[in-house]
Formats: sequence, C-alpha cells, structure tokens
Amino acid sequence: MMTRREAGAGIIASAVLAGAPIVTAAEETGPRRLPPPDKAGGMPLMAALQLRHSTREYSAQPLPTQTLSDLLWAAFGVNRPSGDRTAPYWRHIMVIDVYAAMADGVWLYDAKAHALLPHLPDDIRAATGLQDFVAAAPLNLVYVAHGERMTDISPEERRLYASVDTGFIGQNVYLFCASAGLATVFRGAVDYARLAQAMKLPAQQFVTFAQTVGYPRA
Ligand SMILES: Cc1cc2nc3c(=O)[nH]c(=O)nc-3n(C[C@H](O)[C@H](O)[C@H](O)COP(=O)(O)O)c2cc1C
Repeated sequence: MMTRREAGAGIIASAVLAGAPIVTAAEETGPRRLPPPDKAGGMPLMAALQLRHSTREYSAQPLPTQTLSDLLWAAFGVNRPSGDRTAPYWRHIMVIDVYAAMADGVWLYDAKAHALLPHLPDDIRAATGLQDFVAAAPLNLVYVAHGERMTDISPEERRLYASVDTGFIGQNVYLFCASAGLATVFRGAVDYARLAQAMKLPAQQFVTFAQTVGYPRA
C-alpha cells in the first residue's frame, strides 16, 4: 500500500505534469509545493559567518514562502543529481527528517520534491521547546531521527550520530539566517517526551533538537 508520503510525492509530480495550480494552504491537506530555491542569493560566506549568532526574541511576522523555500533548501536540500544534500550525513543513511512547525500545522520537508508534506493540522509550536518565544515565532524546525535505520550500533551511538547530522543542518540554518537577516536559535531545551507525543511520532523515531527561525523582534 502506498504511504501518505509516497502519495503526496505522486500528487506533486502529477500536478507539475498537468500544470495544475500550486496548493498553498494547510487546510487543503495536500502537499505544499515550494518555489525553487534562489541558489544564487545570499551574502559572501565570510560575511555570514561574521554575523552568525543566536537570537531569543522574535516577532510573530510569518516567513514569505520564498524565504521558507530558500531556508529549507539551505538546511538539508538536494544539491546534487545523486540526491545528496547540503549537509553531510552518517554512513550515507538518511536518518534525519526536518519538520516545520508553524501556525498552520506541522509539515515534513520532502527534499526530493522540494515540498512540504502535511503531517499534522495542529499548531504545536508551544510544545517544541521550554522557552516562551517558541510559541509565537513563525517557524520551529524539529529534527527527527529514524532510529530504526541505524542498525548494528548502540542507542548511545544512535543519539550521537543523529545529533551530529542535526548539527550540520543547524549550522546551515544559522548561516542562511545570518545571510537573510533572519533570527534563529538551535535548541536542546525541549521536553522530548511531550514533543514526540505532540508530533505523534512512532516509537523508533526521536527528536534530536529543535531550531526556531523568524524575524528578530524590533
Ligand atoms: C547543542 C546545542 C543546544 C542548544 N540549546 C539551546 C537551547 O535550548 N536554548 C537556547 O536558547 N539556546 C541553545 N543553544 C544555543 C547556545 O546557547 C548558543 O549557541 C551559545 O550560547 C553561543 O551563542 P551564539 O550562538 O550566539 O554564538 C544550543 C546550542 C547548541 C549547540
């Protein structure tokens, strides 16, 4: 039987072929296609490194779709015909999923289709961390590891390698945000059990970290 994710990717492919309008609202429950990322944009790397920092005060202003597209591609998008990504990953096994928790629900980033697949219709931003700003910031990325894909290693090693994979993605997000004038903070202060429950994760999957993104509060 086709999974929800496979069905979503199929719908996108058919829509593209048919020149169908792009689905943009979570209420329509379909995949949300993202515009192509602007891969020529951004500031010089050294300038972005100079600006990289953590921010803990956010405005509630939502992110434009193009910004979301650019951000997710920078985070963990496909950057080669092989399907490999903007961040390295353990043993060439795809362990980390990137979820976007926003006011209109929780979405799974499908890097191959460069689209957001609907995961939950609920606003769970407040459950993504132990700090107040997470509830109002427009986007909290939640990094989820597929423990079941990490065979022949101990649970400690699973957590270690999944965390390293996540850290690379997190730094991509930091650098993108520095370049785009956005605010971000990578977060481990998370009630992991509560968040796994809010996200309805299967038992083998676990949250590694979360990362808030938005505009700095003026
Ligand atoms: C593994 C890890 C976990 C972190 N967890 C949190 C967190 O839960 N909340 C928070 O506000 N910042 C968190 N941070 C951000 C650090 O506090 C921050 O990077 C550090 O203070 C240095 O500040 P800078 O990022 O502005 O250079 C975390 C950073 C890392 C690498």
